[in-house]
Amino acid sequence: ATTPLSRDEKLQAICQLLNENVAHYNWVGFYFANHESKTLHLGPYVGAPTDHTVIPFGKGICGQVAESNSNFVVPDVAAQDNYIACSFTVKSEIVVPLFVNGINIGQIDIDSHVLDPFTVEDERFLEFVNTEIAKLF
Ligand code: SME
Repeated sequence: ATTPLSRDEKLQAICQLLNENVAHYNWVGFYFANHESKTLHLGPYVGAPTDHTVIPFGKGICGQVAESNSNFVVPDVAAQDNYIACSFTVKSEIVVPLFVNGINIGQIDIDSHVLDPFTVEDERFLEFVNTEIAKLF
């Protein structure tokens, strides 16, 4: 018999699957919101370790999505003033909020080493992934 995967193990496996199967998904992770302290907290991820394990709402691309409840596609991170750099190899980013019962509980965050790789298909795909993930909550 196999032990069922915990939710974090499932999220970790999803990060690995996305990172291994989509060439332009070079860092894949989840941040989860604490609505009392208005901070995001790093969850499971795959890719280079980041110093940014806690991000205040409003700060960086992730923090802005915590407040906007909308996808944020960044074709070129160098063109963003409210951006938190994790690695100099990162050129672009996409953040898609994760809704559970209509509440924005966090987000999937993907960094890419190439410029302008993210299309509307990435947005629709990651919205679908998040809809499936929401069922784990
Ligand atoms: N670049 C993000 C910070 C998180 S790292 O990409 C892992 C931002 O600006 O919010």
